[in-house]
Amino acid sequence: MLLTRQGPSLVVHTPAKLNLILHILGRRQDGFHDLETLMVSIRLYDTIHFESTESSEIELICRSLPPAGEMLSTGPENLIQRAAAILLKAAQLSRGARVMLWKRIPMEAGLGGGSSDAAATLIALNQLWNLKLGLPRLHELAAELGSDVNFFLNSVPASVCAGRGERTKPVMLTRPLHFVVVKPPTGLSTGHVFREWKPADSSPVTDVQAWTSRRFARSLDETRRALFNDLEIPARRLNPEVDRLLQILSRQEFVWSGMTGSGSACFGLCRTARQARGIAGRLRLLRVGQVFSVSTGV
Ligand code: C5P
Repeated sequence: MLLTRQGPSLVVHTPAKLNLILHILGRRQDGFHDLETLMVSIRLYDTIHFESTESSEIELICRSLPPAGEMLSTGPENLIQRAAAILLKAAQLSRGARVMLWKRIPMEAGLGGGSSDAAATLIALNQLWNLKLGLPRLHELAAELGSDVNFFLNSVPASVCAGRGERTKPVMLTRPLHFVVVKPPTGLSTGHVFREWKPADSSPVTDVQAWTSRRFARSLDETRRALFNDLEIPARRLNPEVDRLLQILSRQEFVWSGMTGSGSACFGLCRTARQARGIAGRLRLLRVGQVFSVSTGV
């Protein structure tokens, strides 16, 4: 995330993520799933403006960009509200803030927009309110908020994440990676896709940690062989748009194409940023959904 001070306010640009590898190990007693995933941060950002107020409330305003985008609830279930509340509970204090969110990252897409906003809220309000909670404590709070929040809290280009996703280990990317990301018109609920997963949907024995233990993406051909997502089969069963989109992407000249997280967004890995812009232009003409050409970066 990119954080800047503007007078009394903090402005944070919060990135999206892609899961280049997602391997499900099994269902746990608590209903979550143990997994291993390689996540990369991409330069598709929400922007959040934080300002401290004298009240003891969080005033949250959301704007969707483009304006035709979905409306996001601003109530207590919003991850920004939940992050602010959990932070104040941990600090045993009462504070107020005005928060303005410009949403560009599509929702119900597997792009981690809500989790990224939550991580930014923990960092920004801890600083703005001078709460002095250390990074290890913020990580504990992040894990309570959601499985992907810890990844964004580290603000690194790539990590292998384990457990339910909250145990993160940064990975060195040897080169920037370039992608086309497409969000089809309909989304998918994370919980719904995980519940649809069956052990038979998982790829056979894989060792995500070993592939990524040194450096990742030394060559694109080596990278291509490592990529897969065990949630792709259940997502294709649940949403025919994902199935259709993946077929369209497989006909483009991508190094590899697949789905991110629990979908519904899918992506193609490109050789260069220029190639990504070219393919993105062609896909826009096919009206397959929202199309972005993006590179890795925090
Ligand atoms: O942690 P998060 O809020 O992102 O998870 C949303 C839902 O996705 C959970 O309620 C759970 O149903 C499912 N999930 C899971 N296993 C994971 C992560 C998420 O079953 N590792």
